[in-house]
Amino acid sequence: MKEQLAQIRVQALAAVAAAESTAALDELRVQYLGKKGALTAVLKSMGKLSPEERPAMGQLANEVRAALEQALEARGAELAAADLERRLKEEALDITVPGAPVKLGHRHPMYLALDEIKEIFIGMGFTVLDGPEVELASYNFDKLNAPEGHPSRDWSDTFYFDEDSRVMLRSQTSPMQVRAMETMPLPIRIIAPGRVYRKDEVDATHSPMFHQVEGMVIDKGVTMADLKGTLNTVVEKLYGKGTKTRFRPHHFPFTEPSCEMDVQCHKCGGVGCPTCKGEGWIELLGAGMIHPRVLEMSGIDPNVYSGWAFGIGLERTAMRRFKIADLRLIFENDVRFLEQF
Ligand code: DAH
Repeated sequence: MKEQLAQIRVQALAAVAAAESTAALDELRVQYLGKKGALTAVLKSMGKLSPEERPAMGQLANEVRAALEQALEARGAELAAADLERRLKEEALDITVPGAPVKLGHRHPMYLALDEIKEIFIGMGFTVLDGPEVELASYNFDKLNAPEGHPSRDWSDTFYFDEDSRVMLRSQTSPMQVRAMETMPLPIRIIAPGRVYRKDEVDATHSPMFHQVEGMVIDKGVTMADLKGTLNTVVEKLYGKGTKTRFRPHHFPFTEPSCEMDVQCHKCGGVGCPTCKGEGWIELLGAGMIHPRVLEMSGIDPNVYSGWAFGIGLERTAMRRFKIADLRLIFENDVRFLEQF
């Protein structure tokens, strides 16, 4: 029995040392220490020994078992460490490998133009306002001096929500003038960009939804000269130094006097060409001195305060700024077009 134990010890330790995987170790554990294992078999046969022989043999068997368990554990730890090492090598990330390029989108040309406009006005001390697209007709018309029956209120031009024409999609950003006058302390310097809606068919220069930027200044002693000076400065910043403008008399219900401002055609320099329809000038915006009645309706004394306002079409400004020929390109959002800016 002693030789048997010694043999088991030598064989088992050699096998453990040679095991190449934890699975192989598990097998060896079963093979020697399991219920039907070699060492277990020897222990079971101890009953056959004489009582004198038993303690020494028992001790020897326990030593073999302990040696075997220790060897299994040590080899297991070795294999686990080797396994970890291998995995660390195999699964290592090379953080110096360049990443896959991410395709970045970019600003829409119309918003690029809007950002430029905002920046110019913010630089001149204006505040940028945002307001509702679903508007009360009283703000869109009445308080802007376009009373009941005014042609601009016609159902053929305006998207109304109700039979009595009280709620509508705003047809201009001008109601923001009223909202500013009603809520802001004087003096006021604001611009208000946003969407406006009119019942227009789509073509190269029209869309039922388009964008405007409203501008307004109210203070003591504000004159038409301030309006012209400000707008000329803005146009030179947008389109380059020396860009010529002209102011033509016009009519808007909420300004008196009213005007439209044209910019000299960028294509022909004023001679006349297809872009400016032979005019030499391109219309850019409507403007004027705020009608005293409009000031009064919003609680501002026209004998103390005066102001000017303007409304500029954003699509048209962007088209001129980036030399875009067709308005529809701005709304179609074809990336082949957008990527050019
Ligand atoms: N709201 C006008 C329009 O949509 C544009 C306009 C003209 C705005 C004169 C103004 C202004 O503020 O003073 O045609």
